[in-house]
Amino acid sequence: MSEKEITQKSRNFYEKFQFPGNRPIDRDGLIFLRRFSGSIKDCSKNNKVQTVRVLDAGCGTGNTSVSLAGMYRNIEFYGVDNSKASLEKAKKLSSEKGLRNIHFRKWNLLKPLPYTRKFDIVLCLGVLHHTANMKKVLLNLNKCLKNNGKLYLWIYAKHGRYKHSLNMRFLDMLINAKPKTKDEIHLAKEFLNQIHKINPLEDLTGDENTAYMQKKTIEGPVWIADQFLNPHEILIDMETLIGVVDSAGFEFENLLGFNEDISEFTGSKILLNKFRRLNRTDRLIALDLLIKPERYFVCLNKTASKRGNSKCLH
Ligand SMILES: C[S@@+](CC[C@H](N)C(=O)[O-])C[C@H]1O[C@@H](n2cnc3c(N)ncnc32)[C@H](O)[C@@H]1O
Repeated sequence: MSEKEITQKSRNFYEKFQFPGNRPIDRDGLIFLRRFSGSIKDCSKNNKVQTVRVLDAGCGTGNTSVSLAGMYRNIEFYGVDNSKASLEKAKKLSSEKGLRNIHFRKWNLLKPLPYTRKFDIVLCLGVLHHTANMKKVLLNLNKCLKNNGKLYLWIYAKHGRYKHSLNMRFLDMLINAKPKTKDEIHLAKEFLNQIHKINPLEDLTGDENTAYMQKKTIEGPVWIADQFLNPHEILIDMETLIGVVDSAGFEFENLLGFNEDISEFTGSKILLNKFRRLNRTDRLIALDLLIKPERYFVCLNKTASKRGNSKCLH
C-alpha cells in the first residue's frame, strides 16, 4: 500500500472511532506530568518574555492537550490531527472548559507543519506507529521545534506487543472469513472475552495496568477498535527506534518509566559489571531485550547538528 492509501485508511478509521473516549490517568500519564512540568519550567526560564508553545501532534480528541491547557493557562497549546471528527470533540472539550490557550487544526503529519513560529515542546503520543512513514513524521516534527526543543514520544514496542499483534491478526482472519463480518466491534468483544480465559491480557494496555484499565478497555468500543481493529500499526524495537530518531535529528534524553540499569533485576556483580560497560545505545538495546516492554515513552532532544546515521549515543 502507498503512503497515501495507508493514511487514507487510518484517517477513515479515526473518523469512525475518535480516540480516546475518556481516558483515566495511568502510570505513564503521571510520569509524563512530572517531566512535563520540569520542561515547562526550563522553557519559561529560557524564553524570558516569549510565551512557551507546545504542539500536540496527533492530538486525537484532545484528552492530553486540553487537560494540559487547563493546567497551564499561560502557555499556548496547538493540536493537530488528521481526523476531523476527533478534532470536533477536542474543540468541544476545550470550549466546555472555556480555554483560550489551545488551538486545533486538521493536518496530516506527513506534510511539513503549517506554523512559522517554532515550538518549545512537541508531544507525539500513540501516533507514530499508525503513520505511513515514521521518519518523515519525525523530520517534520524536528523542523517545527526550537533548537533546544524537546519531543515526548510514546510508541508501541515490538517485543512486548508481539503477542497482541498475533491476536489482532487472528481476529482479522475471523472478521474476513466469508461472509465478512459487519459488526466488527461485536466480534472483537466476543474474542476479547474469550481470549481472556486462555491468554491473560497483560499485553493489551501497555503495562501491568490492573483491572480498572482493562475493564475500561474491554467496555469501550473506541478502545476495542483501537486495540484490535486498527488498520495500520507498525511495531519497532529499540534498535530501530534509536536509528530512526537519530536519522531524523533527535537524541535520547530519557527513557521514561525505566531505570536504565539492570540492578533492579539482578544482584549479580558479574552481570552488572558487564552491562555497565556497554555504551548507552547498547545498554538501551540490551534492556529492551531483557524487559520486552509493550511501549517506549521517551523524551528526545533535538540534536544541535544532524549527525546522519551514527547509532552510538555516547
Ligand atoms: C491512538 S490515537 C492517539 C491520540 C492522542 N495522541 C492520545 O494519546 O490520546 C492516534 C491519533 O493519531 C492520529 N493520526 C494518525 N496518523 C496521522 C497523520 N498522518 N497525521 C495526523 N494525525 C494522525 C489519528 O487520527 C489519531 O487521532
